[in-house]
Amino acid sequence: MSHKSAKDFFRPLAVGAPAPLREIPARPSRAIHFFDPSNEKMAAKIPAMVGTVDVLLGNLEDAVKADNKVAAREGLVRIAQSTDFGPTQLWTRINALDSPWVLDDLTTLVPAIGDKLDVIMVPKVQGAEDIHYVDRLLAQLEAKAGLTRPILIHAILETARGVANVEEICGASPRMQGLSLGPADLAADRKMKTTRVGGGHPGYLVRQDPPRGEDGTAQVDAQRNVFQQDLWHYTIAKMVDACATHGIYPYYGPFGDIADVVACEDQFRNAFLLGCVGTWSLHPKQIAIANRVFSPSVEDIAHARRVVAAMGDGTGAVMIDGKMEDDASLKQCLVLVELAEQLAEIDPELKKLYDAIPAAEEA
Ligand code: GLV
Ligand code: MG
Repeated sequence: MSHKSAKDFFRPLAVGAPAPLREIPARPSRAIHFFDPSNEKMAAKIPAMVGTVDVLLGNLEDAVKADNKVAAREGLVRIAQSTDFGPTQLWTRINALDSPWVLDDLTTLVPAIGDKLDVIMVPKVQGAEDIHYVDRLLAQLEAKAGLTRPILIHAILETARGVANVEEICGASPRMQGLSLGPADLAADRKMKTTRVGGGHPGYLVRQDPPRGEDGTAQVDAQRNVFQQDLWHYTIAKMVDACATHGIYPYYGPFGDIADVVACEDQFRNAFLLGCVGTWSLHPKQIAIANRVFSPSVEDIAHARRVVAAMGDGTGAVMIDGKMEDDASLKQCLVLVELAEQLAEIDPELKKLYDAIPAAEEA
């Protein structure tokens, strides 16, 4: 492996390209709403969605038929050029790096709408080499187009090799904005035996121990509780650690059972609790779920503010409602309070809710 000097990471990769960012801004991105720009009915609804969702993502990859790849790319250019996105971020998901479409995706999108694109999502990333390829190409295209702001890269974690290489992927470029779990492709690539897009599986469970008969024998046929387990726990936890290590943001991905809003909410909440900042939305009704789940609750903020007020200079320990709070729980509370402040800036309804919380008393 060849090594690059640390200071060279922040040099543009093409003469005249914008300087790489030293920190990835924490922009709210609770829901990344996917739309197919080749679907005219769907595309027509996009301008009205500005301001109702944190991220709109024009999808060019899977779910867009091969015959529609060019129409999707051109549709995205048209929508981006004719829409003022205001506070809403515009992302795209380009085709995979081993596809015949991706080069045209990049060479078309960057000059045409590079000034509007915040983040490019790269699917099926295997290792740092995939990020290096896109990184250099983006720098060349940005320089040629005279862009003043670097376009960021988001990688989908959806290959076994990508999971094995997750840390080097996160650290491969100062453009790295975050990672999403891609449970559908990841399941296929790992040869998992599921047939769904995200979520749990009734076969993946643990069962309560069997009761014992009077003679001490295990009654294996007795009624016992079973607890469905989370197929994605390991990957999400690994992704969260890699992202936190590199100062970038982890996301859940697609939840394919659109009708099961309850299980969708559970899956999103697990990801939120483990450290993810957002998720994908494949249907407008998943936007509301994501916004609810990935915004701290009023109860959490009320409690967090009490801890912050009671902890004063942050050292020592206090008792609140019979529970010990110290430096470490204070830091957890600050994560929630800071997130609430960022979200309140762009979401007036949330701001009202958080502002209505009675002031916490100092200890
Ligand atoms: C997303 O792209 C997935 O494969 O789950
Ligand atoms: Mg995929």
